[in-house]
Amino acid sequence: MKDRLMNLQAECLQKLDSANTLAALEEIRVTYLGKKGPLTEILRGMGALPAEERPIVGEIANQVRTTLADALAAKKEALGAAADAARLEAEKLDVTAPAVLKNLGGRHPIALVQEEIENIFISMGFSVEDGPEVETDYYNFEALNTPADHPARDVQDTFYVTEKVLLRTQTSPVQARTMEKTNPPIRMICPGRVYRSDAVDATHSPMFHQIEGLVVDRGITMGDLKGTLDLFAQKMFGEQTKTRFRPHHFPFTEPSAEVDVSCFVCGGEGCSLCKGEGWIEILGAGMVHPNVLRASGIDPEEYSGFAFGMGVERIVMTRYGINDMRYLYENDVRFLRQFS
Ligand code: DAH
Repeated sequence: MKDRLMNLQAECLQKLDSANTLAALEEIRVTYLGKKGPLTEILRGMGALPAEERPIVGEIANQVRTTLADALAAKKEALGAAADAARLEAEKLDVTAPAVLKNLGGRHPIALVQEEIENIFISMGFSVEDGPEVETDYYNFEALNTPADHPARDVQDTFYVTEKVLLRTQTSPVQARTMEKTNPPIRMICPGRVYRSDAVDATHSPMFHQIEGLVVDRGITMGDLKGTLDLFAQKMFGEQTKTRFRPHHFPFTEPSAEVDVSCFVCGGEGCSLCKGEGWIEILGAGMVHPNVLRASGIDPEEYSGFAFGMGVERIVMTRYGINDMRYLYENDVRFLRQFS
């Protein structure tokens, strides 16, 4: 009987040793210590033993039961600890690890440059005006001293909505709108989109951006225009920058000029950016034509003014060394990411 008990114990301990789930442990417990297990059977059958053997077998049987119960409990605890450790490992969270950042958008280079230009003029006391992109023929052309037979009115260049309504070809109509609703002194700029019926290539787009400028007051001269644009050029392109005015023609200004800035890469020596010229053309300007002042209800005998208009894309491209305008509109994040 004693041998049987010892064998039972050895067999059970061996099984416990190789059990590695809680379910397997439970199975072992039921098999060896359960109500129908061999140990219970032996204890129940004690009555059949000779009286002198009973206490001895009873003691051994109880020892075996205690040993097995302890071994089971110990194994259960070990399995639980291992399971906890595995779960901790699997759910490990390193709160000090660098965060995974969301992909944030950035400012578009056109918006960046536009804002920079706005800030320069705001610092000189200009207001920032707005005007409609769908404009009337009157504001886009007529109020700007651009007669009906002017080539700019050609359907080749202008997107017409109806005979009298069009997509503005320039930001200049905002000059007329501002003069109609404001009495001098006027100092304003107007950034915005303009449209021309051009085919897309490296330097043309049917939609692009301009910034218009207008100053009207008593005694405004060409000197004010030059001083203002000189200061703008220095702030925009660097202290050393000079301007150059070349005679030109615009219907709404007289005299008119095209304005260049000295190349901010070579300083005027000539390089690949300025194509060996030393100068980069950035805008058109002039003294507001008396007909334009008159059309918007301002007396040219009392007031004079200057105006200018610049293309934003041109400045963006020279500033960042972009040689194809199409990059600005294709929304390729590999391109755009370079500016944020
Ligand atoms: N509107 C002209 C253009 O689109 C640019 C311009 C030139 C605007 C001279 C002006 C100006 O206000 O005075 O080419």
